[in-house]
Amino acid sequence: MAEARGREMREEEVRLSEAEIAVHWKEEALYYPGPKFIGQANLTDPAVTERFSEKNFPECFREYADLLTWDKYWHTTLDTSKAPFWKWFVGGRINVSKNCVDRHLEKHRNKAAILWVPEPEDEPTVVITFQDLYNRVNEMAALLRDHCGLKKGDRVTIHMPMVAELPVTMLACARLGVIHSVVFGGFSGEACGARIVDSASRVLITMDGYYRSGKLLDHKVNADIAVKKAADEGTTVEKVLIWQRHRDKYSSPTPLVAGRDFVVNDLLKTFAGARVEPVSMPAEDPLFLMYTSGSTGKPKGCQHSTGGYLAYVTGTSKYIQDIHTTDVYWCMADIGWITGHSYIVYGPLALAATTVMYEGVPTYPDAGRPWRIAERLGVNIFHTSPTAIRALRKLGPDEPKKYHYSFKCMTTVGEPIEPEAWKWYYDVVGRGEAAITDTWWQTENGGFLCSTKPAIDAMKPGSTGPPMPGIYPIIYDEQGKEIPVGAGKAGNICIRNPWPGMFQTIWGDPDRFVKTYYAKYNKNKTSTDWHDWPYFAGDGAVWAPDGYIRILGRVDDVINVAGHRLGTKEIESACLTVPEVAEAAVVPVVDPEKGRVPEVYIALKPGVKADKAMEEKIGKAVETVIGKIARPRTVRIVPDMPKTRSGKIMRRVLASISNRMDYGDITTLANPEVVEQIRVQVQGAGPVQKQAGPEDIKAFGKDA
Ligand code: WT7
Repeated sequence: MAEARGREMREEEVRLSEAEIAVHWKEEALYYPGPKFIGQANLTDPAVTERFSEKNFPECFREYADLLTWDKYWHTTLDTSKAPFWKWFVGGRINVSKNCVDRHLEKHRNKAAILWVPEPEDEPTVVITFQDLYNRVNEMAALLRDHCGLKKGDRVTIHMPMVAELPVTMLACARLGVIHSVVFGGFSGEACGARIVDSASRVLITMDGYYRSGKLLDHKVNADIAVKKAADEGTTVEKVLIWQRHRDKYSSPTPLVAGRDFVVNDLLKTFAGARVEPVSMPAEDPLFLMYTSGSTGKPKGCQHSTGGYLAYVTGTSKYIQDIHTTDVYWCMADIGWITGHSYIVYGPLALAATTVMYEGVPTYPDAGRPWRIAERLGVNIFHTSPTAIRALRKLGPDEPKKYHYSFKCMTTVGEPIEPEAWKWYYDVVGRGEAAITDTWWQTENGGFLCSTKPAIDAMKPGSTGPPMPGIYPIIYDEQGKEIPVGAGKAGNICIRNPWPGMFQTIWGDPDRFVKTYYAKYNKNKTSTDWHDWPYFAGDGAVWAPDGYIRILGRVDDVINVAGHRLGTKEIESACLTVPEVAEAAVVPVVDPEKGRVPEVYIALKPGVKADKAMEEKIGKAVETVIGKIARPRTVRIVPDMPKTRSGKIMRRVLASISNRMDYGDITTLANPEVVEQIRVQVQGAGPVQKQAGPEDIKAFGKDA
């Protein structure tokens, strides 16, 4: 019986999760924040953990909400009556644009709100004061309202690069209660079109072009593709608004479509000096949608709230990013991801910080660029990802030493960081002085879930740290049994309780919301007690005896590339748009810089010739459908896919081969002979290579 079940499980669990190939790190020594940092920090009282402990939940989160200016104070901090659709600060009314802009005018009118750094180094930095921001947000809000007829609750898709006009547009939407859906600028027109359809946006806001690695890219062309894709799927985009990269000059070779396309700067002339009263929004109305990849093909529109979200990002920006109004804060993420929404735009601006935006590639024109920017602008808080850290370290290990900047604290986010890279970040970038926070969270979460409190907790390279105040994790095994702290075993990390930054639902698909995040460990479907609804994050994790959590990576078939989730199914369906492709399987491959990169295995239709041109065509198809970020590093055309007897592709076997590991037991396959053929094709003849070591496959899950 047990043996039969074991075999069945092996056949069922066909995918190698990222966690399984996560590198096993040894325990690292602790690092401590210095007295200079502690002396000025916002959060130094260790009693915060007690204040945010379970006995004070949910009222503890008042502390965050009270950082905001409410039009009307709420009557119910947490309403659980429609579990697991939690409601925060019910009865409260608030406007996000008023909190990020208007309320700072009195004290900070002439202080820089945004410093925008163009990629070409000879173009000057653009300074936008809070007064400028106020003017521009009001004028844009008037345009959206009067030219586009947009109102509270409507959705708008924004497909823009890293320019100051992006936060201006977001804040203008927020002023009106219009729900924005920002699509990462690097995503393709088709990916943008699919998100327009899902959110039913009538208006698309884009830009003519932008600089990337020294080239002015045509971005407007993507709008035409997006609108066409939307039209093909039955959604009409009535208006396309186009910002200009160079003022009063249209910089794209793609022509405007009369009656549909409008240049924003032309329209804005009509709205010069316009003022728009911020719409007082119920705390629980949505602020924005942010699409993220899930384990089925269709991206999920994560719906974030107004009051709870802003409270959470403001609180965590203040206490974990340690933002003061006098700081110059630079988060080098893209606003097209959740990190940029929460920790470039909303959190820092709600605190009246000066937030830095950089248009281009961090290593352009050389790996000293970020440090020159930091020196020139006086940046004192820096926030980036392991993938950027690895790239900067590789290309310019000594560059930071050449520049006079001083960081008081720094953040890493997006994927687990290798202790080696962490130490370079600490010693060289931070000069052994800056406190580092390794913040673990997800698009769905609004803000940090785990991190050290920078002036209170020691740092441990490779571990995200303890849970955030008011966040109560639990690690379960597959059967739903708790794996206690210090057990030395990995499992599925869940959060037991709701928190204000948590997303409200998947846009248009509440059943999928419950199914994806709660069904697995729910204790009672009809319960309105939050204790019965642990949130399943989809990451593997180990909880060390000292209370520090180490994240091992995704347990589903989602690949984390350079800190961003890509659905393997999305990539596979993109491959299948090539008519000659019969089957496609995507696997994550460990990459020294990007963390993970996708590699695809392809079986062609009978009679089709496998050659370089075909590989190129498949790679290009992925780029067209999703974007460059998803482009497979290698396309491997194989004679046949390894399959279970029930016909499922054994991705685990393919992933092992790609990662130069032993592929394990394949006796239950329908076609075991093909595995060795593929291995020789990928790894070459000779014995099985085990570069990554057998430890690696044991990191998590069924092999543990
Ligand atoms: C996934 C979420 C919200 C940040 C941007 C990515 C991984 C994120 C860490 C970290 C280890 C991390 C997880 C998570 N991740 N931060 N500090 N240490 N892993 O957002 O695209 O929604 O991806 O990124 O696997 O589930 P995302």
